[in-house]
Amino acid sequence: MVVLGIETSCDETSVALVRDGRTILSNIVCSQADWHKHFGGIVPEIASRKHVELLFPALDLALKEASVELNSIDGVAVTCGPGLISSLAVGLAVAKAICAALNKPLIPVNHLEGHMLSAFLADNELDFPFLCLIVSGGHSELVYAHDLGKYEVLGRTRDDAAGEAFDKVARVLGLGFPGGPAIDKAATNGSPSAIAFPRADMGGSLDFSFAGLKTAVARFVEGYRDILADKSASQYTVPDIAASFQEAVVDMLIQQTERAIQMTKANALAVVGGVAANRRLRQRMNELTSGYGIKLVIPPIILCTDNAAMTACAGYYRLERGLTANLDVDAIAVWDLEDVTVSHLPPKVT
Ligand code: KG4
Ligand code: ZN
Repeated sequence: MVVLGIETSCDETSVALVRDGRTILSNIVCSQADWHKHFGGIVPEIASRKHVELLFPALDLALKEASVELNSIDGVAVTCGPGLISSLAVGLAVAKAICAALNKPLIPVNHLEGHMLSAFLADNELDFPFLCLIVSGGHSELVYAHDLGKYEVLGRTRDDAAGEAFDKVARVLGLGFPGGPAIDKAATNGSPSAIAFPRADMGGSLDFSFAGLKTAVARFVEGYRDILADKSASQYTVPDIAASFQEAVVDMLIQQTERAIQMTKANALAVVGGVAANRRLRQRMNELTSGYGIKLVIPPIILCTDNAAMTACAGYYRLERGLTANLDVDAIAVWDLEDVTVSHLPPKVT
């Protein structure tokens, strides 16, 4: 079966074609970063207008690259939430139009389920159950994926998501937007032990917290701003601050993931979402999992950040079970993984 995936939950416009949930035929991702960077973050109004502009060219390209005719696809998988409503609505409208015109099944997909199942695209042998760390701009969650639609959230962030902390600290350091890749790059020239930023103590829980760390970095930079400006006098450089901050985030992610491995006795770990592109995190996750002798799957960078191949992959597994929807399905801004079941519908917007 070939599933068409459409992903417009935030600021990437993406269309993909995936065969049998595992083989990517095409995965077109149009980044809108250049339009948003002047504002230091994502502007929802600009995001939705750009989706309108970019979605059809992306669809054309995806079909061409895959050498697939639109009327030969088996279903349309579309991200319905969580995300920016005005962005989700664009993808959903196009998906519904294709389904209505060509009489194809519509498959609503949860964005976080898409991120989790992106691991299936990276490793053909991976199957349920597996432990998953989702780290993105909006989410940081440790999930035990028992089966399709059976997701046990073991821990989640109590404040900022990991990617959000990267973006905010990059702004404080004047490194631009999006912050994660900028900090990753700057950190290569800095010392991770230069500054001992705090790591949140979450007691016995598997939750995360990054707000205290973010504030600590902001206070440090504030007190140090004049000295940093005078390169000859500064004891610490921007790369030192970036590397020390990054190390603190990675330490917290590793600590909680290790506890989850011990608790669940999982024999496979997937690390997914935009922050999974981080080189230091990838290296430390490799060390962690080889210590426990368990399988590690971290998708290539194009599948870590938002993309429609992951949507099509999740869509395939739902279509296989007949989990399709009527054309009256809505976009939904908040949609927890625990509410993603093997029912065919996202929860009703109230
Ligand atoms: O999954 P994603 O593309 O969108 C959401 O669903 O949020 O994740 C975007 C997040 C941004 O916060 C971005 O700064 C972060 O992923 N990110 C990174 C890296 N590349 C992207 N964070 C750390 N290191 C990176 N190399
Ligand atoms: Zn995402």
